[in-house]
Amino acid sequence: MRHVVTMKSTPFEGQAPGTSGLRKKVRVFQQPGYTENFIQAVFDVVKPEAGATLVIGGDGRFHNRTVIQQAIRMAAANGYDRVLVGQGGILSTPAASHVIRKYEASGGLVLSASHNPGGPDEDFGIKYNITNGGPAPETVTGAIHERTKTIDRWLTVEADDIDLDAVGETVVVGMTVSVIDPVADYADLMETLFDFAAIRAMVKSGFTMRFDAMGAVTGPYAHEILERRLGLAAGTVVNGTPLEDFGGHHPDPNLIHAKELYDLMMGADAPDLGAASDGDGDRNLIIGRGRFITPSDSLAMLAANIEVAPAYRGRLAGIARSMPTSAAADRVAEALNVPIFETPTGWKFFGNLLDAGKVTICGEESAGTGSDHVREKDGVWAVLLWLNILAARGVGVDAIAREHWARFGRNYYARHDYEGIDTDRANALMEGLKARLGELPGRGFGPLTVAVADSFSYTDPVDGSISANQGLRILFDDGSRVVFRLSGTGTQGATLRVYLESYVPPSGDLDAETAAMLAHQINAAEEIAGIAEHTGRAAPDVIT
Ligand code: G6P
Ligand code: ZN
Repeated sequence: MRHVVTMKSTPFEGQAPGTSGLRKKVRVFQQPGYTENFIQAVFDVVKPEAGATLVIGGDGRFHNRTVIQQAIRMAAANGYDRVLVGQGGILSTPAASHVIRKYEASGGLVLSASHNPGGPDEDFGIKYNITNGGPAPETVTGAIHERTKTIDRWLTVEADDIDLDAVGETVVVGMTVSVIDPVADYADLMETLFDFAAIRAMVKSGFTMRFDAMGAVTGPYAHEILERRLGLAAGTVVNGTPLEDFGGHHPDPNLIHAKELYDLMMGADAPDLGAASDGDGDRNLIIGRGRFITPSDSLAMLAANIEVAPAYRGRLAGIARSMPTSAAADRVAEALNVPIFETPTGWKFFGNLLDAGKVTICGEESAGTGSDHVREKDGVWAVLLWLNILAARGVGVDAIAREHWARFGRNYYARHDYEGIDTDRANALMEGLKARLGELPGRGFGPLTVAVADSFSYTDPVDGSISANQGLRILFDDGSRVVFRLSGTGTQGATLRVYLESYVPPSGDLDAETAAMLAHQINAAEEIAGIAEHTGRAAPDVIT
């Protein structure tokens, strides 16, 4: 019998897991009992069976190691048989997903606040992934939240911290803790998916790239795969050491936070490919020489070319995208005669579709792309698929994009974010708009006429579960649209996201400025929702 210590506790408010787990300021997690309550609520809900294995890893941000030590003791007290933890406490989110699947763990704790900054005054997060390697579905996260409201104790054992930096096994009060190489299993998986020989040959013939790991978790993965296994020059990977504060940067691979990479790619000395990933390694940014590829377009282009990668040849079952993601992928699905699924925002909604074999590739406008190889989006995977496509097609990123638009037409796309606005005012905007949706069809805004206005609701085709209120959609009669949604990942106030999209057929202007192509939709969004009045902002804080 393990000697279990029961610690008395009382509930904390606001432990509802959001889009991607519980995400709060580090100081909130540091309150005595706060983290422990949440982890205990997870264990109380998932009830580990005898012999169960738990995977633990994170993106290396501040507070990661402290929580890992605590979680290991609590796992032992809650009856786990084994814990697998990445060396140094590191596991990228997609690598954690793979490790859960490969070692048939019952689940995993992924410690990350993704692309949010790290450090004592910044963000931390805990997410529970289930045995398929994907984020827990809403039934589970809902039950965890309920449990946090009544929790009155958490369980631990008396044991010293383990050495997270040495690969090997330790026994902690009857439970085996294996510290594993965080990169090897994942890198091996990538070799089974892509044509590494073709990429190596392209590199030998002079192909160059820059991968910006943003001081976050993908550094070790990129060094191993890109530089060691694929032969790209040393120095290809920049900011490649995971730091607790990400070097003070905001590890979000977009044009604002990866501006240096963007500037390089738009300049005379640009390498052939520029790429970046976020804090926990699940997002990606792709920039060719002189050509930024929007995440929505990247999904469409990857899907259209996925057959060049050995593991995907002849088996594209379907494509899925989140609702706010542009419809570029829909046109590819139509041309390839495979189904397209439109899900709410949040990778977890792809899990059932992937498990049921209904889709092979998925993607989101929020810089996430992935496939059925794991159950998370995967930044390094997306970069490798792009490399495989470039190697197989023998042309650059810009040429791939131009060919794609010439065949399918182009979905001009932008997202306007209003960050850190007052929560009540943000809710008032959304509630007000929701109440007026019925009046909008038929009304004109500049040259646009509203065809449909609704609140997006999703019925999961696999388990029939319904997720309502997933964003407000205004569809215009020319096929363009505006979508309004509140972010589910922020930690301060509310963030309003306005997603803008217009479509130009192959015969139209395929090389215009995005802002110009969306001017009518931008005006309509303001007129319909009164953004300036509600937010007090004359312009968005971030445009991606
Ligand atoms: C996380 C999830 C993504 C989702 C994104 C949305 O990154 O993993 O699947 O698309 O959050 O974030 P938002 O801030 O728009 O709710
Ligand atoms: Zn992330």
